[in-house]
Amino acid sequence: MKVFEANITHLVSDFFKENLKKIMSFAVANQKMFDAFGIKLFFDNNEEFEILKEIIFNTNNIVEEPDRAEYGDFQTNADLASKVTLHLASKNISPKIIVEPTCGKGNFIIASLKNFKNVQQIYGVEIYKPYIWETKFNIVNFFLENPTSNKPEIIVSHSNVFDFDFTQIEKQYSKEDILIIGNPPWVTNSKLGSLNSSNLPKKTNFKNHNGLDAMTGKGNFDIAESITLTMIKNFQKMRGNILLLVKNSVIKNIVFDQNKNQYKIASIEKQCIDSKKEFNVSVEASLFYCKLNSIPEFDCKEFNFYNNKNSYQKFGWINDKFVSNIEAYTNTKDIDGMSPYVWRQGLKHDCSAIMELDKVNEYYVNGLNEKVKLEDGIVYGILKSSDLKNTVIKQTRKFTIVTQKKVGQNTNYIKTEYPETFKYLKEHQTNFDARKSSIYNSKPLFSIFGIGDYSFKPYKVAISGLYKTFHFTLILPQDNKPVMLDDTCYLIGFDKIEFAVYALILLNSETTMRFLQSVTFADAKRTFTKDVLMRIDLLALAKSINQKYLQMELTRLNEMYNFNLSLNLWVIFMKDMIPVNNGQIEMFA
Ligand SMILES: C[S@@+](CC[C@H](N)C(=O)[O-])C[C@H]1O[C@@H](n2cnc3c(N)ncnc32)[C@H](O)[C@@H]1O
Repeated sequence: MKVFEANITHLVSDFFKENLKKIMSFAVANQKMFDAFGIKLFFDNNEEFEILKEIIFNTNNIVEEPDRAEYGDFQTNADLASKVTLHLASKNISPKIIVEPTCGKGNFIIASLKNFKNVQQIYGVEIYKPYIWETKFNIVNFFLENPTSNKPEIIVSHSNVFDFDFTQIEKQYSKEDILIIGNPPWVTNSKLGSLNSSNLPKKTNFKNHNGLDAMTGKGNFDIAESITLTMIKNFQKMRGNILLLVKNSVIKNIVFDQNKNQYKIASIEKQCIDSKKEFNVSVEASLFYCKLNSIPEFDCKEFNFYNNKNSYQKFGWINDKFVSNIEAYTNTKDIDGMSPYVWRQGLKHDCSAIMELDKVNEYYVNGLNEKVKLEDGIVYGILKSSDLKNTVIKQTRKFTIVTQKKVGQNTNYIKTEYPETFKYLKEHQTNFDARKSSIYNSKPLFSIFGIGDYSFKPYKVAISGLYKTFHFTLILPQDNKPVMLDDTCYLIGFDKIEFAVYALILLNSETTMRFLQSVTFADAKRTFTKDVLMRIDLLALAKSINQKYLQMELTRLNEMYNFNLSLNLWVIFMKDMIPVNNGQIEMFA
């Protein structure tokens, strides 16, 4: 049965039937509800009271569920809420004051009533009125089932969390133990933008993102992050704890920003939960826990909430670096520096239907399934992230037309030097003109990006930016032409195969893998970025590598791929990586 669009149990509706029938005023009803259950201002006005009575005595109530996408509505199930509160109780957390900033149907409030025995005051805030009712009905139901249970004073406020004044709670109970508990909305500001919703903090730009960040997605934030930060900021000086269920990215951002915010929080934990099981969604989410009123800490221990013995790793700040695994980082930090080679992103054309080609006998076949004849001159083999599975690649599945040797180069030469290719490109000019990205505006016809001298180096070592495989691949020329990589890959290029193979061995060493594992985050859209790869100090790695290991790996590669390489160029390779001192440092020192 539903009242005010809120579920109500038979136990609660029977209670109302028996106890409110003869009451004529909402003020008297409110006093009765407070005396019986501790809930303040149960009814806002007489009209609500009368409607409730009318509905209770007329049971035909079928209400359609509205679309609640803008409210990031994923109600925590009662079982999980109970486990979470029991987990806190097992840490000897016994709050006097409880705040649930977006309480929904109130499952964390009920779980708190069940598992914390010293609670004196509970505040729940929720924007959606039917949930306010459902929370109140659930509280009534709880006390009807558990009449001897401790009865704190309870205020369930129908309010936008961004308008609610939490400072008054902080002022009134500054000496008490507080627990902030809940599961704030799972929705980002960009999703709200697409829904035309105004469910945002007043200061939407709360991280001071500029317009460019907003365009690149860095300005996209979860409103749960804003709510969590509001709670930390407001209650950091009170004794107590925070436990909020949020996306993993929110926890990462909070710990990252802690370096600048220096909030008085410590013992920060990320308790990973199974969102598929709990919420039937595929989103990485965890319980964020921290202790308030503490000397600020800057790292976060990670646990599996269901098997809560030991933390399996710790991420956060160590010295001035933000890393995903502090222990692994500590063991490999000597190679955290500056790569002597510049890592580059592969080629970008945004026109795969025309530019991505298969080779069938002497023809190429494009994404529109058209058979085309092209001169081989500017057609090159190309690899995508998904191709970079093996350690050495000699052959590509796909081909592409490399229209320029560097960004912005005039493309008129194609007409005279490669007339068939020009004809093909020209016939499909509309596909090029339809490219959305503004980077192609006012650029020569058929322009590409991610191209330069480095693209034409014969030997490349590359990694996929998208996959979570910590494995580098050596790419050899195909038909005496360098092979290209697409823009989901990162590469360094070499003129000598020996240098490329030495770099490959260093990059695929245990030390590099552990280092990369320690500085990359599993939930990042791109596991590897240019920034991360530029941190690998290949020279430091080369200096520390075990020579026996080096020789062993070289022999293995020689045998597997029919190379005949030696370590004769190793010393030159090392010298090549030493930065050239051009005297400028001394001049400006
Ligand atoms: C992820 S649900 C969780 C509800 C509850 N905390 C729980 O754990 O079951 C988020 C809740 O936040 C509420 N909400 C969304 N935006 C809000 C806002 N601006 N102010 C208050 N509540 C809001 C939604 O209606 C929804 O009930």
